[in-house]
Amino acid sequence: MSLNRRALFGSLGGAAALAAFRADALARIAEAAKTVAGRPAASVASDETYWAEIARAFDVDRTLINLNNGGCSPAPAHVLEAMIRDLRFSNEIPVYHMWTVLEPRIESVRRDLAAEFGCDPEEMAITRNASESLETLICGIDLKAGDEVIFTTQNYPRMITSWDQRSRRQGIVLKPISFPVPPKSAADIVERFRQAITPRTRVIEVTHITNLTGQILPVRDLVRLGRERGIEVFVDGAHAFAQFPFKRDDLECDYYATSLHKWLFAPIGTGFLYVRKAKQKSIWPLMAAPATMDEDIRKYEEIGTHPAANHNAIAVALAFHRGIGAERKAARLRLLRDRWAKRLAAASPRVRILTPLNDTESCGIGFVHVEGLDTEKLQAHLWDKHRIMTTPIIHPEFNGLRITPNVYTTFDEIDAFCDRMEKLLKSGLPA
Ligand SMILES: Cc1ncc(COP(=O)(O)O)c(C=O)c1O
Repeated sequence: MSLNRRALFGSLGGAAALAAFRADALARIAEAAKTVAGRPAASVASDETYWAEIARAFDVDRTLINLNNGGCSPAPAHVLEAMIRDLRFSNEIPVYHMWTVLEPRIESVRRDLAAEFGCDPEEMAITRNASESLETLICGIDLKAGDEVIFTTQNYPRMITSWDQRSRRQGIVLKPISFPVPPKSAADIVERFRQAITPRTRVIEVTHITNLTGQILPVRDLVRLGRERGIEVFVDGAHAFAQFPFKRDDLECDYYATSLHKWLFAPIGTGFLYVRKAKQKSIWPLMAAPATMDEDIRKYEEIGTHPAANHNAIAVALAFHRGIGAERKAARLRLLRDRWAKRLAAASPRVRILTPLNDTESCGIGFVHVEGLDTEKLQAHLWDKHRIMTTPIIHPEFNGLRITPNVYTTFDEIDAFCDRMEKLLKSGLPA
């Protein structure tokens, strides 16, 4: 068995899960992997034949161009089918099929995700999304009035709202900091955090990659900064996991939260929460769990009745991700980013790309501000008139379009977006 196939089958968690695969999807990506074996990721990134094979795993509607895959990605058809199959099976007799047959399979999902992230399975909780994971951390850590929390004005709004609610309820003090887009340097970001630290600082919440401009932040340096001073560092990796390769030990983090319906292409309503073993006792679950579970990562999964189908299909999505390979996926996403961003930047001095176009500071997400074109009207025009979906980002400190292609995005689609933008740069938006 080749390495790729072993990685694929290894992540499936047994014969029962294997049956979930639409046979041709598995065969197709395994065959496609053979055709590019041994070639560097950067060279495979531009191989449209290879990526066309990957795209066939998705039910893509080519009458529209989806450049907002960051919000939520479609799952490949066979991942969706695995979930639907399990939903139907559950529905026959939920108390037995869902609870007794399917739910225990969460353990193989835990094992596979832990292997992918580089932690122990006993540190990996399966959740419904990054929000649930992060709120577990934000609401679950003991803090008292006057304790301080540092985050940036570019953290995800729901998380800022969660901190704000805790502040209103318990009098903790919030210390938001800002940094320019693009930032001066990674060191400058770390310095801004350092300057906000006081003897009362208890928590830093940092976004691994922002949902706004796609900026990757220097998480490991911030984790080290926090650890030196006894400050807990919560990492929001909603957009990072499976978009570009990294392991827990690259970040050295104690806490990590992500959604899996973004870049892993798992079904909607899937995520994980990593909490280092030694830290579990001090983070309460969102929904109460018995004291016997104080040091059991499963206490974060005590959420009442929920479908087993969604989280079990994570295993199938992970197999698909491994079938492509994290390096190849990231290289393709970066190539697509460069294709539109460099072309638009060259088209007019009014175009400002506010995402650094390099491998360490960004990946598939890019952000463009166009002087003279109203961001919201531009987004609406692209969708209403041309069926091109982008994301309008209106932040108090900057605004523009966020562009997030996916592995099924073709060069032709990127070029169609650029053609349209170049026309609008010349003619302006219709009144
Ligand atoms: C940086 C960041 N954090 C957290 C979230 C919340 O993710 P979800 O809505 O999947 O819980 C998002 C969603 O876009 C995000 O971009």
